[in-house]
Amino acid sequence: LKSIGNSSFNIDNYFDDYLKSPKLFVNRNALDIAYVPDELPHRDLQIKEIAEITACTLKNGAPSNIFIYGKCGTGKTAVVKHVSKKLTEKCRQIGIVTPKWVYINCKRIKTGYRVLANLYNAIDPENPLPPTGTPVDIILTRLVEKLEDLAANSICFIILDEIDSLKDKKSKDNVLYVLSRINENLQKCKVNLIGISNILNFKDDLDPRVCSSLCEEEIVFPAYNAVQLFDILSSRVAEAFIEDIVDEGALRLCSAIAAKENGDARRALTILRKAAEIVERKGMSRLTEEQIYIARDNLDRDKISLFIRDLPAQQKAILLSVYLNHKYKKGEVSSTGEVYGTYCELLKKVYGLNTLTQRRITDLVKELDLVGLTSSRLKSFGKKGGRTRIISLKAQESQIKKNLQDDSRWGDFLDYKPFHIRRSDINIYSGQRYKSLV
Ligand SMILES: Nc1ncnc2c1ncn2[C@@H]1O[C@H](COP(=O)(O)OP(=O)(O)OP(=O)(O)O)[C@@H](O)[C@H]1O
Ligand SMILES: [Mg+2]
Repeated sequence: LKSIGNSSFNIDNYFDDYLKSPKLFVNRNALDIAYVPDELPHRDLQIKEIAEITACTLKNGAPSNIFIYGKCGTGKTAVVKHVSKKLTEKCRQIGIVTPKWVYINCKRIKTGYRVLANLYNAIDPENPLPPTGTPVDIILTRLVEKLEDLAANSICFIILDEIDSLKDKKSKDNVLYVLSRINENLQKCKVNLIGISNILNFKDDLDPRVCSSLCEEEIVFPAYNAVQLFDILSSRVAEAFIEDIVDEGALRLCSAIAAKENGDARRALTILRKAAEIVERKGMSRLTEEQIYIARDNLDRDKISLFIRDLPAQQKAILLSVYLNHKYKKGEVSSTGEVYGTYCELLKKVYGLNTLTQRRITDLVKELDLVGLTSSRLKSFGKKGGRTRIISLKAQESQIKKNLQDDSRWGDFLDYKPFHIRRSDINIYSGQRYKSLV
């Protein structure tokens, strides 16, 4: 094999250098999003409320159903898992039957049927249901039998996390209705529901009978502020890193960034984790504000990439039109008319898409503005010139290119030169020819 230049990468040397670089972590897992820490600062009130509702389990009582609401990253899942762990430990300690916990994430298991099937399989993993085809009433009858087969006085907690992701109102109402009434058919065991949602008005959409039963107790998780996020990060840092490696300023900055964006602890932890990866990869010995900024920017870029890739075909055509105008006008702004012209040209070149009106395009451009991919504003051109909307590309050209080049529909048009630009090229060209002739 021919070596490429002198700078070929030596993987052995790289690993040796990596081993020589400072050790950062005591417990790297403590920065994982799925890790449930032993301490959850600023959630005492919520832990207490859930503990009070579920404590009757310790005396063989059946707790009320609970509905938990709070924005993303406010610790809902972590708190419920924490309480479940502690309650189970306590039952074990005092020698009573430990409760059965079934955790269902409705973002992954989206239909009522699959919720029931998963529940059934979780209760009896040895004898799972066939993947499809068992009628709901049969599953239910067998589920009740399985629950009754659990030890006497058992409590089965069913956690329906991200419950707002359940699709199809009818099937959602049905499964929640059935589950909220299942205790009527049970003698020895009792079922308790814990619904978790980050959409407050989720309840308004429910069948009133389901709502009154699911929401017997309601608990709200407020968003964290910067000071609280700082404490949360500090406690995770203490578990994860070797002492005194993370600058306090870096933690304050990370907390402030996440507090500004909805008070989301997950966001704060993700930035911190990414910053730690940067420190480790570069063989550095401290985590400072600089790595927090770099980590935040990298994550934002990743987010934008995902966003571009997931755009619907029409939105991609609009973004591509703004990109092509930007590219061939060497960064100058374009009018809506120019972008619309390019969009119409592109639409003629592919099958299966209807050409939208210019007005609709203006609305869709405003949506791209909101996520920072483009920027559009009205500009006045004097008394007679009227007003026209001008559009510029805000994302990096390379970012658009990278994320659209594999697109099956639009990937081939990244070098397409819009007609109005080709036409002005001809004018310049013929003008020059004219001059050379004179
Ligand atoms: N008070 C806290 N102390 C320590 N870590 C926390 C705290 N609150 C949240 N976290 C951590 O932040 C991350 C997000 O928390 P969690 O998943 O519980 O949020 P959530 O409210 O369930 O969000 P979503 O609605 O998006 O599911 C987790 O890694 C969790 O361990
Ligand atoms: Mg959650």
